[in-house]
Amino acid sequence: MKIILGVAGGIAAYKAAELARLLMQESHEVQVVMTKAAEKFVRPLTFAALTGRKVLTNLFAIESAIEHISVAQEHELLVIAPATADLIAKLAHGLADDFLTTLYLAFTGPVLVAPAMNVNMWQHAATRANLDTLRLRGHRIVEPDSGYLACGMTGPGRLADPEAIVEAIGREAHKRRDLAGETVLITAGPTQEPLDPVRYISNRSSGKMGYALAEAAAARGARVILISGPVHLPAPHGVEVVAVRTAVEMRQKVFENLDAADIVIKAAAVADFHLSKVPDHKIKKTAARISLELDPTPDILAELGRKKGGRLLVGFAAETQNLQQEARRKLESKNCDMVVGNLVGVSDSGFESDQNEVILALRTGETIPLPRAPKREVADCIFDQVLRLRLALHAANGN
Ligand SMILES: Cc1cc2nc3c(=O)[nH]c(=O)nc-3n(C[C@H](O)[C@H](O)[C@H](O)COP(=O)(O)O)c2cc1C
Repeated sequence: MKIILGVAGGIAAYKAAELARLLMQESHEVQVVMTKAAEKFVRPLTFAALTGRKVLTNLFAIESAIEHISVAQEHELLVIAPATADLIAKLAHGLADDFLTTLYLAFTGPVLVAPAMNVNMWQHAATRANLDTLRLRGHRIVEPDSGYLACGMTGPGRLADPEAIVEAIGREAHKRRDLAGETVLITAGPTQEPLDPVRYISNRSSGKMGYALAEAAAARGARVILISGPVHLPAPHGVEVVAVRTAVEMRQKVFENLDAADIVIKAAAVADFHLSKVPDHKIKKTAARISLELDPTPDILAELGRKKGGRLLVGFAAETQNLQQEARRKLESKNCDMVVGNLVGVSDSGFESDQNEVILALRTGETIPLPRAPKREVADCIFDQVLRLRLALHAANGN
Protein backbone atom coordinates (compact mmCIF):
# COMPACT_ATOMS: atom_id res chain seq x y z
CA MET A 1 0.00 0.00 0.00
CA LYS A 2 0.95 3.60 -0.46
CA ILE A 3 0.85 5.02 3.04
CA ILE A 4 1.38 8.54 4.35
CA LEU A 5 2.85 8.49 7.85
CA GLY A 6 2.12 11.77 9.61
CA VAL A 7 4.35 12.42 12.61
CA ALA A 8 3.39 15.09 15.16
CA GLY A 9 5.50 16.71 17.88
CA GLY A 10 5.22 14.47 20.90
CA ILE A 11 7.82 12.62 22.90
CA ALA A 12 6.73 9.39 21.16
CA ALA A 13 7.85 10.73 17.75
CA TYR A 14 10.94 8.52 18.03
CA LYS A 15 8.66 5.44 17.99
CA ALA A 16 7.37 6.50 14.58
CA ALA A 17 10.81 5.61 13.22
CA GLU A 18 10.26 2.00 14.29
CA LEU A 19 6.77 2.14 12.76
CA ALA A 20 8.21 3.40 9.46
CA ARG A 21 10.77 0.57 9.51
CA LEU A 22 8.10 -2.07 10.14
CA LEU A 23 5.92 -0.72 7.32
CA MET A 24 8.90 -0.75 4.92
CA GLN A 25 9.62 -4.32 6.00
CA GLU A 26 6.02 -5.21 5.01
CA SER A 27 6.72 -3.78 1.53
CA HIS A 28 4.52 -0.71 1.88
CA GLU A 29 5.53 2.57 0.25
CA VAL A 30 5.86 5.09 3.05
CA GLN A 31 5.81 8.87 2.65
CA VAL A 32 6.57 10.63 5.94
CA VAL A 33 5.12 14.07 6.67
CA MET A 34 6.28 15.81 9.85
CA THR A 35 4.93 18.80 11.75
CA LYS A 36 7.38 21.54 12.76
CA ALA A 37 7.15 20.37 16.38
CA ALA A 38 7.94 16.78 15.33
CA GLU A 39 11.24 17.99 13.86
CA LYS A 40 12.25 19.13 17.36
CA PHE A 41 12.10 15.51 18.51
CA VAL A 42 13.42 13.52 15.53
CA ARG A 43 15.36 14.73 12.52
CA PRO A 44 13.72 14.21 9.11
CA LEU A 45 16.95 12.50 8.02
CA THR A 46 16.06 9.49 10.21
CA PHE A 47 12.79 8.95 8.29
CA ALA A 48 14.37 9.76 4.92
CA ALA A 49 17.00 7.08 5.54
CA LEU A 50 14.39 4.52 6.67
CA THR A 51 11.92 5.14 3.82
CA GLY A 52 14.23 6.20 1.00
CA ARG A 53 12.07 9.28 0.41
CA LYS A 54 12.34 12.96 1.08
CA VAL A 55 10.36 13.86 4.20
CA LEU A 56 7.70 16.53 3.68
CA THR A 57 7.59 19.26 6.28
CA ASN A 58 7.10 22.65 4.65
CA LEU A 59 3.85 23.63 2.98
CA PHE A 60 5.50 26.47 1.10
CA ALA A 61 8.58 24.68 -0.23
CA ILE A 62 6.76 23.94 -3.46
CA GLU A 63 8.91 22.34 -6.11
CA SER A 64 6.40 21.20 -8.68
CA ALA A 65 2.63 21.20 -8.58
CA ILE A 66 0.65 21.75 -5.40
CA GLU A 67 2.38 19.04 -3.43
CA HIS A 68 -0.02 18.53 -0.50
CA ILE A 69 -2.84 17.86 -3.00
CA SER A 70 -0.84 15.51 -5.22
CA VAL A 71 0.53 13.58 -2.22
CA ALA A 72 -3.05 13.22 -0.89
CA GLN A 73 -4.25 11.90 -4.24
CA GLU A 74 -1.40 9.46 -4.75
CA HIS A 75 -1.70 7.63 -1.41
CA GLU A 76 -4.24 5.11 -0.11
CA LEU A 77 -4.03 5.43 3.67
CA LEU A 78 -3.12 8.21 6.09
CA VAL A 79 -1.65 7.10 9.42
CA ILE A 80 -0.87 9.69 12.07
CA ALA A 81 1.42 8.39 14.80
CA PRO A 82 1.99 9.88 17.23
CA ALA A 83 -0.98 12.25 17.09
CA THR A 84 -0.59 15.05 19.63
CA ALA A 85 -3.53 16.65 21.45
CA ASP A 86 -2.83 19.73 19.35
CA LEU A 87 -2.92 17.87 16.05
CA ILE A 88 -6.10 16.00 17.00
CA ALA A 89 -7.75 19.36 17.77
CA LYS A 90 -6.65 20.77 14.42
CA LEU A 91 -7.95 17.73 12.52
CA ALA A 92 -11.27 17.85 14.37
CA HIS A 93 -11.76 21.52 13.50
CA GLY A 94 -10.35 21.46 10.00
CA LEU A 95 -7.44 23.84 10.59
CA ALA A 96 -4.88 23.72 7.81
CA ASP A 97 -1.79 25.70 8.73
CA ASP A 98 0.98 23.24 7.84
CA PHE A 99 1.70 20.44 5.38
CA LEU A 100 0.16 17.61 7.44
CA THR A 101 -3.11 19.35 8.37
CA THR A 102 -3.62 20.72 4.84
CA LEU A 103 -2.92 17.30 3.35
CA TYR A 104 -5.42 15.77 5.79
CA LEU A 105 -8.20 17.96 4.41
CA ALA A 106 -7.27 17.04 0.84
CA PHE A 107 -7.12 13.31 1.61
CA THR A 108 -10.23 11.24 0.86
CA GLY A 109 -9.06 7.74 1.90
CA PRO A 110 -9.15 6.00 5.29
CA VAL A 111 -7.42 7.70 8.21
CA LEU A 112 -5.90 5.99 11.23
CA VAL A 113 -4.93 8.08 14.27
CA ALA A 114 -2.65 6.83 17.07
CA PRO A 115 -2.69 9.39 19.90
CA ALA A 116 0.04 9.78 22.51
CA MET A 117 0.10 12.31 25.31
CA ASN A 118 0.13 12.95 29.04
CA VAL A 119 -2.72 11.25 30.90
CA ASN A 120 -4.44 14.53 31.85
CA MET A 121 -4.24 15.79 28.28
CA TRP A 122 -5.73 12.46 27.14
CA GLN A 123 -8.58 12.67 29.63
CA HIS A 124 -9.33 16.36 29.02
CA ALA A 125 -12.88 17.03 27.83
CA ALA A 126 -11.53 18.94 24.80
CA THR A 127 -9.42 15.97 23.67
CA ARG A 128 -12.32 13.54 24.28
CA ALA A 129 -14.68 15.70 22.21
CA ASN A 130 -12.12 16.11 19.41
CA LEU A 131 -11.53 12.35 19.26
CA ASP A 132 -15.27 11.71 19.14
CA THR A 133 -15.45 14.04 16.15
CA LEU A 134 -12.74 12.02 14.39
CA ARG A 135 -14.48 8.73 15.25
CA LEU A 136 -17.74 10.06 13.85
CA ARG A 137 -15.90 10.87 10.64
CA GLY A 138 -15.07 7.18 10.43
CA HIS A 139 -11.38 7.49 11.34
CA ARG A 140 -9.86 4.58 13.23
CA ILE A 141 -8.38 5.54 16.59
CA VAL A 142 -5.65 3.20 17.80
CA GLU A 143 -6.15 3.63 21.54
CA PRO A 144 -3.02 4.47 23.54
CA ASP A 145 -1.67 2.00 26.08
CA SER A 146 -1.72 2.54 29.80
CA GLY A 147 1.51 2.62 31.75
CA TYR A 148 4.42 4.79 32.86
CA LEU A 149 4.55 7.96 30.75
CA ALA A 150 7.55 10.12 29.92
CA CYS A 151 6.05 12.93 32.06
CA GLY A 152 6.49 10.70 35.13
CA MET A 153 2.76 9.97 35.50
CA THR A 154 1.09 6.59 35.09
CA GLY A 155 -2.12 6.01 33.10
CA PRO A 156 -3.44 5.93 29.54
CA GLY A 157 -1.59 8.04 26.96
CA ARG A 158 1.39 5.96 25.85
CA LEU A 159 1.55 5.46 22.08
CA ALA A 160 0.30 1.99 21.11
CA ASP A 161 3.16 -0.36 20.22
CA PRO A 162 4.31 0.08 16.60
CA GLU A 163 3.42 -3.61 16.05
CA ALA A 164 -0.17 -2.94 17.20
CA ILE A 165 -0.39 0.05 14.85
CA VAL A 166 0.88 -2.11 11.96
CA GLU A 167 -1.80 -4.68 12.83
CA ALA A 168 -4.51 -1.98 12.79
CA ILE A 169 -3.18 -0.80 9.41
CA GLY A 170 -3.44 -4.38 8.14
CA ARG A 171 -7.08 -4.58 9.27
CA GLU A 172 -7.87 -1.25 7.64
CA ALA A 173 -6.15 -2.31 4.41
CA HIS A 174 -8.11 -5.55 4.32
CA LYS A 175 -11.40 -3.80 5.05
CA ARG A 176 -10.73 -1.10 2.52
CA ARG A 177 -12.23 -2.73 -0.56
CA ASP A 178 -13.97 -5.83 0.79
CA LEU A 179 -17.35 -4.69 -0.62
CA ALA A 180 -15.97 -3.80 -4.06
CA GLY A 181 -18.22 -5.07 -6.86
CA GLU A 182 -21.24 -5.36 -4.51
CA THR A 183 -24.37 -3.25 -4.45
CA VAL A 184 -25.77 -2.48 -1.03
CA LEU A 185 -29.34 -1.22 -0.74
CA ILE A 186 -29.95 0.65 2.51
CA THR A 187 -33.09 2.32 3.85
CA ALA A 188 -32.75 5.06 6.45
CA GLY A 189 -34.64 7.64 8.46
CA PRO A 190 -38.30 7.90 9.40
CA THR A 191 -41.25 8.08 7.07
CA GLN A 192 -43.86 10.83 7.23
CA GLU A 193 -47.49 9.80 6.84
CA PRO A 194 -49.73 12.73 5.93
CA LEU A 195 -52.95 13.37 7.82
CA ASP A 196 -53.92 16.25 5.55
CA PRO A 197 -51.93 18.57 3.23
CA VAL A 198 -50.11 20.22 6.19
CA ARG A 199 -49.93 17.62 8.99
CA TYR A 200 -48.25 14.25 9.29
CA ILE A 201 -47.35 11.52 11.79
CA SER A 202 -43.76 10.37 12.00
CA ASN A 203 -41.20 9.13 14.54
CA ARG A 204 -37.94 10.24 16.13
CA SER A 205 -35.57 8.37 13.80
CA SER A 206 -32.74 10.72 12.72
CA GLY A 207 -31.39 8.49 9.93
CA LYS A 208 -27.89 8.61 11.46
CA MET A 209 -27.48 4.81 11.68
CA GLY A 210 -28.59 4.23 8.08
CA TYR A 211 -26.38 7.06 6.81
CA ALA A 212 -23.42 5.67 8.80
CA LEU A 213 -24.02 2.27 7.15
CA ALA A 214 -24.13 3.91 3.71
CA GLU A 215 -20.89 5.77 4.41
CA ALA A 216 -19.18 2.60 5.65
CA ALA A 217 -20.32 0.53 2.65
CA ALA A 218 -19.17 3.21 0.19
CA ALA A 219 -15.81 3.51 1.95
CA ARG A 220 -15.42 -0.28 1.58
CA GLY A 221 -15.93 -0.06 -2.17
CA ALA A 222 -19.65 -0.87 -2.60
CA ARG A 223 -22.11 0.82 -4.88
CA VAL A 224 -24.63 2.14 -2.37
CA ILE A 225 -28.28 2.97 -2.99
CA LEU A 226 -29.67 4.81 0.04
CA ILE A 227 -33.44 5.12 0.16
CA SER A 228 -33.98 7.83 2.69
CA GLY A 229 -36.97 9.22 4.49
CA PRO A 230 -36.90 12.93 5.42
CA VAL A 231 -33.74 13.62 7.49
CA HIS A 232 -31.42 16.55 8.16
CA LEU A 233 -28.21 14.85 7.07
CA PRO A 234 -25.90 15.56 4.13
CA ALA A 235 -25.76 12.89 1.40
CA PRO A 236 -22.75 10.66 2.13
CA HIS A 237 -19.92 10.94 -0.38
CA GLY A 238 -20.29 8.60 -3.37
CA VAL A 239 -23.74 7.30 -2.37
CA GLU A 240 -26.86 7.37 -4.59
CA VAL A 241 -29.61 8.86 -2.44
CA VAL A 242 -33.26 8.26 -3.34
CA ALA A 243 -35.45 10.59 -1.28
CA VAL A 244 -38.89 9.34 -0.24
CA ARG A 245 -41.49 10.54 2.21
CA THR A 246 -44.05 7.84 2.99
CA ALA A 247 -43.93 4.10 3.69
CA VAL A 248 -45.70 3.46 0.36
CA GLU A 249 -43.06 5.49 -1.53
CA MET A 250 -40.28 3.70 0.36
CA ARG A 251 -41.71 0.32 -0.56
CA GLN A 252 -41.94 1.31 -4.22
CA LYS A 253 -38.30 2.52 -4.37
CA VAL A 254 -37.00 -0.52 -2.48
CA PHE A 255 -38.57 -2.94 -4.96
CA GLU A 256 -37.55 -0.80 -7.96
CA ASN A 257 -33.92 -1.15 -6.83
CA LEU A 258 -33.97 -4.67 -5.41
CA ASP A 259 -32.73 -6.41 -8.57
CA ALA A 260 -29.43 -4.54 -8.44
CA ALA A 261 -28.76 -5.36 -4.77
CA ASP A 262 -26.56 -8.06 -3.25
CA ILE A 263 -27.10 -6.96 0.35
CA VAL A 264 -30.22 -5.22 1.69
CA ILE A 265 -30.17 -3.39 5.01
CA LYS A 266 -33.44 -2.00 6.29
CA ALA A 267 -32.43 0.56 8.90
CA ALA A 268 -35.38 2.90 8.26
CA ALA A 269 -38.01 3.38 10.97
CA VAL A 270 -40.99 2.98 8.68
CA ALA A 271 -44.33 4.11 10.11
CA ASP A 272 -46.55 1.15 11.03
CA PHE A 273 -49.81 3.00 10.40
CA HIS A 274 -51.05 5.61 7.96
CA LEU A 275 -54.19 7.26 6.72
CA SER A 276 -54.89 5.47 3.48
CA LYS A 277 -57.22 8.21 2.18
CA VAL A 278 -55.66 11.60 2.91
CA PRO A 279 -58.13 14.51 2.74
CA ASP A 280 -57.47 17.06 -0.03
CA HIS A 281 -57.84 20.01 2.34
CA LYS A 282 -56.61 20.91 5.79
CA ILE A 283 -58.73 19.47 8.59
CA LYS A 284 -60.37 22.48 10.28
CA LYS A 285 -59.93 23.12 13.97
CA THR A 286 -63.15 22.54 15.87
CA ALA A 287 -64.10 22.21 19.49
CA ALA A 288 -65.26 18.66 18.88
CA ARG A 289 -63.08 15.59 19.33
CA ILE A 290 -62.02 13.98 16.05
CA SER A 291 -60.74 10.50 15.48
CA LEU A 292 -58.54 9.10 12.77
CA GLU A 293 -58.84 5.59 11.42
CA LEU A 294 -55.33 4.41 10.63
CA ASP A 295 -54.53 1.45 8.42
CA PRO A 296 -51.37 -0.62 8.59
CA THR A 297 -48.62 0.39 6.14
CA PRO A 298 -47.06 -2.22 3.84
CA ASP A 299 -44.63 -4.48 5.72
CA ILE A 300 -41.56 -3.90 3.53
CA LEU A 301 -39.26 -6.17 5.55
CA ALA A 302 -41.66 -9.11 5.45
CA GLU A 303 -42.08 -8.69 1.68
CA LEU A 304 -38.30 -8.49 1.27
CA GLY A 305 -38.03 -11.69 3.31
CA ARG A 306 -40.30 -13.43 0.78
CA LYS A 307 -38.63 -11.95 -2.32
CA LYS A 308 -34.97 -11.71 -1.28
CA GLY A 309 -33.74 -14.67 -3.36
CA GLY A 310 -30.01 -15.15 -2.76
CA ARG A 311 -29.57 -11.69 -1.24
CA LEU A 312 -28.48 -11.18 2.33
CA LEU A 313 -31.21 -9.38 4.27
CA VAL A 314 -30.56 -7.36 7.42
CA GLY A 315 -33.43 -5.90 9.43
CA PHE A 316 -33.46 -3.58 12.41
CA ALA A 317 -35.54 -4.00 15.55
CA ALA A 318 -35.87 -0.82 17.64
CA GLU A 319 -36.91 -1.96 21.11
CA THR A 320 -37.14 -0.51 24.58
CA GLN A 321 -36.98 -3.94 26.27
CA ASN A 322 -36.42 -7.68 25.58
CA LEU A 323 -33.98 -6.72 22.85
CA GLN A 324 -32.52 -10.17 22.24
CA GLN A 325 -35.86 -11.97 22.25
CA GLU A 326 -37.50 -9.43 19.92
CA ALA A 327 -34.54 -9.41 17.51
CA ARG A 328 -34.63 -13.20 17.24
CA ARG A 329 -38.42 -13.23 16.80
CA LYS A 330 -38.13 -10.69 13.98
CA LEU A 331 -35.31 -12.67 12.36
CA GLU A 332 -37.57 -15.72 12.12
CA SER A 333 -40.88 -14.03 11.31
CA LYS A 334 -39.44 -11.79 8.56
CA ASN A 335 -37.00 -14.35 7.13
CA CYS A 336 -33.97 -12.09 7.72
CA ASP A 337 -30.35 -13.26 7.81
CA MET A 338 -29.45 -10.80 10.53
CA VAL A 339 -31.43 -8.50 12.79
CA VAL A 340 -29.73 -5.58 14.49
CA GLY A 341 -31.46 -5.13 17.83
CA ASN A 342 -31.33 -1.47 18.62
CA LEU A 343 -31.86 -0.14 22.14
CA VAL A 344 -34.07 2.94 21.94
CA GLY A 345 -35.57 5.09 24.67
CA VAL A 346 -32.29 5.36 26.61
CA SER A 347 -29.90 8.30 26.54
CA ASP A 348 -26.73 7.95 24.44
CA SER A 349 -28.05 5.18 22.19
CA GLY A 350 -30.65 4.67 19.47
CA PHE A 351 -32.70 7.45 17.86
CA GLU A 352 -31.04 10.86 17.38
CA SER A 353 -27.91 9.78 19.26
CA ASP A 354 -24.46 9.70 17.62
CA GLN A 355 -23.82 6.45 19.46
CA ASN A 356 -25.53 3.13 19.34
CA GLU A 357 -25.57 -0.03 21.43
CA VAL A 358 -26.82 -3.00 19.46
CA ILE A 359 -26.95 -6.76 19.45
CA LEU A 360 -26.73 -8.79 16.27
CA ALA A 361 -29.03 -11.82 15.96
CA LEU A 362 -27.73 -14.04 13.17
CA ARG A 363 -29.35 -16.79 11.14
CA THR A 364 -26.61 -19.13 12.37
CA GLY A 365 -28.16 -18.93 15.86
CA GLU A 366 -25.43 -16.66 17.25
CA THR A 367 -26.22 -13.47 19.12
CA ILE A 368 -23.41 -10.94 19.18
CA PRO A 369 -23.57 -7.91 21.51
CA LEU A 370 -21.58 -4.90 20.27
CA PRO A 371 -20.33 -2.36 22.81
CA ARG A 372 -21.78 1.16 22.75
CA ALA A 373 -19.82 3.04 20.07
CA PRO A 374 -20.20 5.83 17.51
CA LYS A 375 -22.67 4.78 14.79
CA ARG A 376 -19.95 4.83 12.10
CA GLU A 377 -17.93 2.27 14.09
CA VAL A 378 -21.06 0.18 14.70
CA ALA A 379 -21.71 0.30 10.94
CA ASP A 380 -18.28 -1.19 10.19
CA CYS A 381 -18.82 -3.93 12.79
CA ILE A 382 -22.17 -4.76 11.15
CA PHE A 383 -20.49 -5.11 7.73
CA ASP A 384 -17.71 -7.25 9.25
CA GLN A 385 -20.41 -9.60 10.56
CA VAL A 386 -22.47 -9.46 7.34
CA LEU A 387 -19.46 -10.66 5.35
CA ARG A 388 -18.60 -13.34 7.92
CA LEU A 389 -22.23 -14.51 7.99
CA ARG A 390 -22.40 -14.76 4.21
CA LEU A 391 -19.31 -16.98 4.17
CA ALA A 392 -20.83 -19.16 6.90
CA LEU A 393 -24.16 -19.47 5.05
CA HIS A 394 -22.39 -20.30 1.77
CA ALA A 395 -20.29 -22.92 3.55
CA ALA A 396 -23.43 -24.40 5.16
CA ASN A 397 -25.12 -24.56 1.73
CA GLY A 398 -22.04 -26.20 0.23
CA ASN A 399 -21.36 -23.28 -2.21
C1 LIG B 1 9.26 17.68 25.70
C2 LIG B 1 7.87 17.80 25.15
C3 LIG B 1 7.12 16.65 24.99
C4 LIG B 1 5.81 16.74 24.50
N1 LIG B 1 5.10 15.60 24.35
C5 LIG B 1 3.84 15.67 23.91
C6 LIG B 1 3.05 14.48 23.76
O1 LIG B 1 3.52 13.36 24.01
N2 LIG B 1 1.79 14.59 23.31
C7 LIG B 1 1.24 15.80 23.01
O2 LIG B 1 0.06 15.83 22.63
N3 LIG B 1 1.95 16.94 23.10
C8 LIG B 1 3.23 16.89 23.54
N4 LIG B 1 3.96 18.06 23.65
C9 LIG B 1 3.35 19.33 23.25
C10 LIG B 1 3.44 19.51 21.73
O3 LIG B 1 4.77 19.45 21.29
C11 LIG B 1 2.80 20.84 21.33
O4 LIG B 1 1.40 20.82 21.64
C12 LIG B 1 3.00 21.15 19.87
O5 LIG B 1 2.33 22.37 19.57
C13 LIG B 1 2.45 20.06 18.96
O6 LIG B 1 2.57 20.46 17.62
P1 LIG B 1 2.02 19.53 16.43
O7 LIG B 1 0.69 19.03 16.85
O8 LIG B 1 1.92 20.45 15.25
O9 LIG B 1 3.01 18.47 16.20
C14 LIG B 1 5.28 18.00 24.14
C15 LIG B 1 6.06 19.13 24.29
C16 LIG B 1 7.32 19.04 24.79
C17 LIG B 1 8.14 20.29 24.93
